[in-house]
Amino acid sequence: MAVEIKSKSDIEKMRATCRLAASVLEYIEPFVQPGVTTEELNRLCHEFIVKAGAYPSPLNYHGFPKSICTSINEVICHGIPGSQTLREGDIINIDITTTLDGYFGDCSDMFVVGGEASPAASKLIDVTRRSLWLGIAEVGPGKRIGDIGAAIYDFAGRKHGYGVVDAFCGHGIGREFHMAPQVSHRGRRGTGLRMKPGMTFTIEPMINEGTHECDILGDGWTAVTRDRRLSAQAEHTILVTEHGYEVLTLRSGCYQPG
Ligand code: MF3
Ligand code: CO
Ligand code: CO
Repeated sequence: MAVEIKSKSDIEKMRATCRLAASVLEYIEPFVQPGVTTEELNRLCHEFIVKAGAYPSPLNYHGFPKSICTSINEVICHGIPGSQTLREGDIINIDITTTLDGYFGDCSDMFVVGGEASPAASKLIDVTRRSLWLGIAEVGPGKRIGDIGAAIYDFAGRKHGYGVVDAFCGHGIGREFHMAPQVSHRGRRGTGLRMKPGMTFTIEPMINEGTHECDILGDGWTAVTRDRRLSAQAEHTILVTEHGYEVLTLRSGCYQPG
């Protein structure tokens, strides 16, 4: 499948929707506290996005029932907000996608409920974020898409012994939520599509404490680790530029290496 090259005006619209998606993560962070329900986080994000003149892309996407994804502890991704109450020490991924002026922006990050995670959870989150940025460092014109996942797998899988999920991938994004190319997080060096300026896609590694294998719960959405050990994820939307990359979903306070 051909990978779309964004025009200058497409890129401006991608910047705007991605900036909005990132600002939702910034907005919601102080509400991630013991006692809050994921339904309440969903409501707050939904209102924020609608007030900004945008649409919360997950809502009704292939039947997804809510406006954001909330994935707690052993949930890998696509957790559905509901009556579950956050508890001190839980780790939660909040995944925000916005549709603004017809363009999608997609990002997620981890939050620690009450601010203090176990050493094991802290390390998992740290390795996950660093692996995302090692993948980002592989982005540039003429480079191969397989190198992104290879960098992620070498670090999180080989070096740290974590399970790197391969059932879900990063994806091209633009006027559609999910489009070509697929961005594997366990790629092979020197393989895959050559990147070109104007391509936009996500990188969103899901890293597990134990096995990389997953189960889908009875709701048809929630992906959990088969061994029910912890999982973490971080996601950015990236633009390939003439000289390298631009991370479109950066926000203030966002993890960045170095
Ligand atoms: N935001 C997720 C991603 O990173 C997709 C969520 S699809 C939904 O690709 F239907 F679960 F919302
Ligand atoms: Co995504
Ligand atoms: Co996402």
